[in-house]
Amino acid sequence: MSNLSVIAGKPSEDLARRLSSKLKANFVKSEIKVFPDGESKITLNGNLSTKKSIVVQSMYPPVDTNLIQALSLISKAKEVSPEVIAVIPYMGYARQDREFLPGEIVTMKVLGKLFKGAGASKVITVDIHSIIGFKHFTIKTKNVSAIPDLVKYFKKLSLKNPLVVSPDQGGKERAKEFAKEFDSEYIALEKKRDRKTGKVEIKTKHIDEVTGRDLILVDDMISTGGSIIKATQFLKKQKCKRVYVACTHALLMNGAEKKIKKSGVTRIISTNTIPSKTSIVDISNTIAKAIK
Ligand code: R5P
Repeated sequence: MSNLSVIAGKPSEDLARRLSSKLKANFVKSEIKVFPDGESKITLNGNLSTKKSIVVQSMYPPVDTNLIQALSLISKAKEVSPEVIAVIPYMGYARQDREFLPGEIVTMKVLGKLFKGAGASKVITVDIHSIIGFKHFTIKTKNVSAIPDLVKYFKKLSLKNPLVVSPDQGGKERAKEFAKEFDSEYIALEKKRDRKTGKVEIKTKHIDEVTGRDLILVDDMISTGGSIIKATQFLKKQKCKRVYVACTHALLMNGAEKKIKKSGVTRIISTNTIPSKTSIVDISNTIAKAIK
């Protein structure tokens, strides 16, 4: 038996299988039954390593259910393996990394305690919303970037004089990294989100650079699609050509994909941190490298 086991949470089974084969690990599948009251019952199928286990479980919706399942898998792994690495490709709650409005609870602080308490010695994420979230963790953490994998895909498309665009200033560094790998220019729009209603508005008034060019809107995640839709509507008004979206985590809540397409986006390309119709970029190799 291998000295390493990869335990697949249900939401990340395909990614975990790919990772396991890259790491030549022992693959352990989990069977999940969610009872009518919402409780999860998990049964593991396979042998756990007495040395090191890797739990792979993304925290996309239902977020809290997937969180408790991740913690349960870590806790079980820790009973057998002295070292347990939690690979959480999409880390939910990462946007709650500080107190934006008085009285708000910083849930990333709670997560820091939970992952440690469950027995993880290290947490690995892919494009966590903001690295500030990890300041609340006392165990080892590592965040890997999916940008090189996304860029590899975009290089295969024949885009016309492409320009990389971040929908907001917060994503400027991400757009810069993408543009550097892609060998193009980049810009960042000014976005304002109402902290109470969540409504998004583009503050940028006019931009010349986009006219007649194919654009790649780069973001870490799409939830409701509000940010991408507002950005696309604005960019279309500036007479750009096609708008492509490159994002790591496509949550696409409440029919977001349809709404995004309707706003004028040609294609959404995301990674398999969240399996969906748009998740055509595999990041298992990048995660494997971070573990080796
Ligand atoms: C915000 O800062 C993030 O990077 C995303 O742009 C945002 O969370 C996406 O959410 P939505 O799709 O609901 O606008």
